[in-house]
Amino acid sequence: MAFSESALEELGLAPMWVRRGMRPSVETTASADAAGAASNAGKTSAIEAADAAGATSSLQAASPREAGMNARIQQPPAGADEPAWLDEVSVEPPAHTRTNRIVADARADTGTDVATLDWDALSARVTACERCRLCEKRTNTVFGVGDRNADWMLIGEAPGENEDRLGEPFVGQAGKLLDNMLRSLTLARDTNVYIANVIKCRPPGNRNPEPDEVARCEPYLQRQVSLVKPKVIVALGRFAAQSLLKTQASISSLRGRVHEYEGVPVIVTYHPAYLLRSLPDKAKAWADLCLARDTWQKTAGAPPR
Ligand code: URA
Repeated sequence: MAFSESALEELGLAPMWVRRGMRPSVETTASADAAGAASNAGKTSAIEAADAAGATSSLQAASPREAGMNARIQQPPAGADEPAWLDEVSVEPPAHTRTNRIVADARADTGTDVATLDWDALSARVTACERCRLCEKRTNTVFGVGDRNADWMLIGEAPGENEDRLGEPFVGQAGKLLDNMLRSLTLARDTNVYIANVIKCRPPGNRNPEPDEVARCEPYLQRQVSLVKPKVIVALGRFAAQSLLKTQASISSLRGRVHEYEGVPVIVTYHPAYLLRSLPDKAKAWADLCLARDTWQKTAGAPPR
């Protein structure tokens, strides 16, 4: 099986559900030539795989595994941990002056020494953190997981219910999809990837984190990035992307380009929980991962920072 086919298989893109007579939508991203080329290859394979499945009913899965996966996609489990970033609609920024003041106040309060901590001290600091109101309702802080010397760093929004309970990022259904996506690039959280969130404590009811909560937590992530020294960062979902890149731009406008956080190239993609519900966007996520891989290959060949 060709690499692109096995990768798509891992992503759950081939074979896939296809409504008779319909093809997955294909986005053109003028600003990412490399990603475009790679993604078009992937999309073509996915489409061909879907066609090859030869639908005999209006919706048909070509394998039991996919049938199970797509049953989940179509019917998210009741009471599932609904993350705030599922709302992919761009929100209006709060008034600049107010946001700037909140963020500045929080930054002033965060203490500069976080930037000097080693892994153990940083982890202990997060465990004991009471910098914002999120500490009141958390069960566990969720520090991060994976290879602390990884070239790849993935950054999500905030812990959900399962993560709060277990103290590890991305442990639910979205985490399984994330692991499959990583496997398609021969990456794994216990080997060569580091995974963290912008926010280390679960916002009650998975509400959107407030600007001051983000600002108070940011030194921890900054320190994690400076300790890992990744070659590429993948921002998972609108909230992570907007927080890292300090923008209110929509995720669709941020995808397909190489951004920067703390001197590290950043690629923006959809949140895996969103992908569980939006099958066509999996092809776009594959394009994003291809852009991340191309970016990583370039930076891995460059002299160390
Ligand atoms: N969503 C996130 O953004 N992070 C997690 O750790 C879990 C779900």
